[in-house]
Parts: sequence; structure tokens; C-alpha cells
Amino acid sequence: MHIPNYQEAKRRNKKEYRRVDYKINDKIKNKYLGKTFYLKTYGCQMNEHDSENIEALLVHLGFSKVDDYNQADLVLLNTCSIRENAHNKAFGMLGRLKHLKSEKRELIVGLCGCMAQEHSVVEEIMKNYPWINFVFGTHNLYQLPNIIDDAIKKNKQQIEVFSTEGDLVEGLPVIRANSHKAYVNIIYGCDKFCTYCIVPYTRGSERSRKKEDILKEVDELIAEGYKEITLLGQNVNAYGKDLYDNYTLGNLLEDIAQKEIPRIRFMTSHPWDFTDHMIEVIGKYKNIMPSIHLPVQSGSSRILKLMGRRYTKEEYLELFYKIKKTVPHVSISTDIIVGFPGEEEEDFLETLDLVEECKYDNAFTFIFSKREGTPACKLKDETTLEEKEMRLQRLNQIVNHYFLENNKKLEGTIVEVLVEGKSDKKKDMYFGYSDTNKLINFTSEYEVSVGDIVSVEITSAKTWSLDGKQVR
Ligand code: 5AD
Ligand code: SF4
Repeated sequence: MHIPNYQEAKRRNKKEYRRVDYKINDKIKNKYLGKTFYLKTYGCQMNEHDSENIEALLVHLGFSKVDDYNQADLVLLNTCSIRENAHNKAFGMLGRLKHLKSEKRELIVGLCGCMAQEHSVVEEIMKNYPWINFVFGTHNLYQLPNIIDDAIKKNKQQIEVFSTEGDLVEGLPVIRANSHKAYVNIIYGCDKFCTYCIVPYTRGSERSRKKEDILKEVDELIAEGYKEITLLGQNVNAYGKDLYDNYTLGNLLEDIAQKEIPRIRFMTSHPWDFTDHMIEVIGKYKNIMPSIHLPVQSGSSRILKLMGRRYTKEEYLELFYKIKKTVPHVSISTDIIVGFPGEEEEDFLETLDLVEECKYDNAFTFIFSKREGTPACKLKDETTLEEKEMRLQRLNQIVNHYFLENNKKLEGTIVEVLVEGKSDKKKDMYFGYSDTNKLINFTSEYEVSVGDIVSVEITSAKTWSLDGKQVR
């Protein structure tokens, strides 16, 4: 049994990570043929991509997928701990599963992902959820086949959560959710330790994959006909720092851009690590999409300091304008937290000012959520929840105003759209995303297939999407 521990998780040892290749134990391959699984994923793209690996590992064991947890022999929750509501959702689902298990005793239930890395969650599970069969963490996902096999064989709760990262495992099997868009991990973990954030504890230290492994994966995706790849990491801009003296995200982007892949995206970028070279490369290549997620978190330098963000409002703006100047038609999106402990009305007004100035194309806005074990959790917080909710509403009104204003500017223009499918709501329309990552619904007189990149003339703009018609 391995139980997570934040003191260990916080430690950053400068060590070289052993790169090992995944191999399934032949004894358990296909052992569970005929059994079914249901996998529920919470949280970010990192978790979505982990679930693509988990699904393939379960298939190696012989399980097949079902879409209704009532029909499953095994239910696995891949959890997120970024904010309290993600936490609550997973515990709500556990409540439903407890009920199901009382009627179906042979049901196997497991929990993995970021919540599994929290010691308080694991303690709670060991104390009050003895019926959960197994828990494993983000650092030992590759052990899933053995953990599940043990949980079933031994009929005893298995808790296998490593506090710190071990080997960097390559060659995990994957069943991708999409046939023309793919995620590629380039760096795991985060060393930034923003004071509100739990990720450096749940995902460990920054570990870059070797460029050869990444480029090989990209080549394979191109050969399989993928049109878009998204390079993933909690902070992709730190790519390479732990591995190379002179090979960064800029170099990696350039090496990938020279391949025959129509669309390259990357996320998420911490403003601190954004170099001029990266901006230049993004501006230079047409297949690097002009769409950058650049979380600001607050417009008040005082609050940014308390958040441990390592930049001031002025430094952020300097970077913002450099990107706008160098990358043609770039769209910039952001994340903003309101109600950080100690945020006064004046600080909040500075955030509104910044939003008025940056006129973001998209923004994800959150109320500060206390995460146990993070430094911000201990800060005095006198603002009421009602006040924080009001601030969120005021902020959302302004960000939404600019989404619409920016979208309106696209009316009458032609944008390139990667087709995702037929629209659910409007049966005669297709939908897809533009190079700047806007959702486009469009009609067409031509034959359209999922995965095509087509030209669409924009006829009308809404806050969250645009309508148009295909042109040739
Ligand atoms: N409370 C609220 N929002 C948070 N985020 C991260 N941690 C917290 C927290 N404790 C937000 C940040 C980050 C995004 C992924 O989630 O804005 O950029
Ligand atoms: Fe993703 Fe962070 Fe949530 Fe984990 S805690 S799933 S890394 S958003």
C-alpha cells in the first residue's frame, strides 16, 4: 500500500528520470474478456488524455467499454481537484455508486487522477468508503492493470498512490477519443507553486519528454491522418528546461511545424516562461494556430504577488502586446480568479480594467476555491461569498461583451474550419473550430466530411459561436 503525502509531493529533487517502456504482463492480458467498464473523466485536457491511456489499458485487460454505469462490471472515476466543485462532483458520483454497489455486490469501483493524490481524500476513502476497491494516483497510472487485477483477486481495498514521480513511462497504449484531433503530452507536472494551486502537489515536478519520443508520436499521428495536434502540459512553456541546455518549446514547435501537419496547438502557457523566440516561431509558421491561452489570474500586481505569479500587471501587458504585434490575427484567451484572499474592491477594479484593455477572445473565470495544503488556504479571507459571486457576475458581463464584440469583427470574413461533425441542435448545419479556436456552425452545398478543413464565410456572430456558410 502507498498513501500520498504532501510533504514528499512538494519536494523537488533535481534528478534524471529514467525512461522506461510500458509492457503489459502477459499473464493478465485479456484476463477479463467479456467484462465491461465505465470511465468517467473530470477536469482538464491532461485528464482527458490520461483517460485515453486508461481506456486502452483496460482494453488490454480484456474489458470493453459501456456508456451507462449501471451496465458496467467496473466503474472508474478519473478525478480533478482543481476546485471544490470538481471534488464535490466526484463525491456525488461515489454516493450513486455506493447505492448501486449495495444492489450489485460484485461491482468493482476505482478512483484515480488528481484527487487520488490528496492525502485527505485517501484518508477519507480508507475511513468511510471501504467498499471502493482501488485507488491509484497520477504517478502510477501505468500500473493500472496490476492494481485492478490485485483488487479483484485479493478482494481487499488497494491503495497505490506514489507521492512523487518515478520513471517516465513511454509507449503507453492509447485509444484516442477523436479521429482527427490528438493530444500529445510534452511535459508533466509543474514547478511554479502558485499559492492557490494544488497541481504541483497532485502532478509532481516538471518532467519533459524527450524530443525524439514526441516527434515520433507526431509522425505516427500524421501517418494515421490526424489533422490537428495539441501539445499538452500544465506549463508547456517550461518544456525542455529539465532536459536540455538549448532546446525549448520554441525549438520543438519549429521542428513540428516543419512536418506535414495542418494544425498545431499548445496549452497551457505560463506568462513567466514565454520567450521572444517562441513568439517569433508562432508568428512564422502558418500551421501553428494563432490562438494562445495566457492565464492572467488577476489585474492587480498586489494580488499577483500574493498569488506567486512572478509577473506584474505591466509585465503581463508587455508580453500580451508583443504577442499581438508578432502573431497575425492572434486570439488570446485567459483564466481569471476572483475573490483571492485579500482581494479588495480596488484590486478587482484593476482586473476589470485589464479585461477592458485586453478584450480577450475567451476567458475562463472562477471564484477562488480553498485547496487544502496550498499556501493560500491559510491566508485570511474576509470577503463574503455573496460579494465574490457579485464580482464574478460583474466580470462575466464584461468578458462576454468582448467575446461578442470580437466575434462581430469576423462577420463577412472567411475563416478556415476543421470540421467536427453535424450540429446536434441544427440538423442542417455542420460545426467545427476556426484557426483561432472559435466554434463555427455552418451550412454547405458541398460534400463535407469530418476532419476536412473548409473555408466558411461568417454570416452572423453570437457570444459563444459564429454562423456561416461554406465557400470555395
Ligand atoms: N481556485 C479557483 N481557481 C483556480 N484555478 C486553479 N486553482 C484554483 C483555485 N484554487 C484556476 C486558475 C487556473 C485554472 C486552470 O483554474 O485560473 O489557470
Ligand atoms: Fe487537470 Fe489540474 Fe484538475 Fe488535475 S487538478 S485534472 S491537472 S485541472
